[in-house]
Amino acid sequence: MLTYTAAGQGPAVVLLHGFPLNRSIWDQQIRQLSTRFHVIAPDLPGLGASPPLPEDGPPSMAGMASQVLALLDRLGVGSVAVAGHSMGGYVALALQKAVPERVVGLGLISTQAGADTPEAREGRYATAEKVGQEGAGFLATGMAPKLFGPGVAADSAVYSAVASIIREAPAGGVRAALHAMAGREDMRVHLVDIAVPTLVLTGEQDQLIPPERSELMAASIRNAVLVKVPGAGHMPMVEQPQQVTEALAQWLDLVF
Ligand code: MLT
Repeated sequence: MLTYTAAGQGPAVVLLHGFPLNRSIWDQQIRQLSTRFHVIAPDLPGLGASPPLPEDGPPSMAGMASQVLALLDRLGVGSVAVAGHSMGGYVALALQKAVPERVVGLGLISTQAGADTPEAREGRYATAEKVGQEGAGFLATGMAPKLFGPGVAADSAVYSAVASIIREAPAGGVRAALHAMAGREDMRVHLVDIAVPTLVLTGEQDQLIPPERSELMAASIRNAVLVKVPGAGHMPMVEQPQQVTEALAQWLDLVF
């Protein structure tokens, strides 16, 4: 069973974090949205305090989504709005595809629908191998500077909090997540099937997943609202928490 934070009462919303982070990135959104909604934020399998994916097949986004679904079942949650950040967005798309009747709203935050290029896939496998040999600590040095827009200084509290989550990420979970991301399917053809209210949100200064990919996703989903957050890179929920909370609240008002 995934480790999670749950707060508030009302219609249910799930917040899924990105790679190789944990549910604490949503703390500010959990605090504010839980005044009106039942907010559930799990650690994805093998990350944060959650157990790894079961070893019944290669790691996949569908496998991660089925663990989130098992948590929702356990909590007695039927219909749910699902918002995912980056890798969490890949999981959200997999969950929507698996149980479209239960996902009544979709939030795609700093994410994309396409699969990896062959080069990106090879890069992930090489990184996974290195994580197996050295642990995940080295990722913090390479990855943290790319996560933020220019407004976040390397000596800021936000930067060091995120860098320390990456430094402490469990090596086994990081490797599995890298393999799952490398093998994920191209969901672009599936976007036209999404009919629920969808929030597509990107930081204007995202260096990891260019905002153009959000524009393309929003153009392909019939019921999508695109929000571009100024002054944010790849981590808008901690760079501009108030703007992200407001965008999520407006989306949830469309959903419920
Ligand atoms: C993330 O933030 O979850 C990752 O950067 C996504 C990815 O590497 O594709």
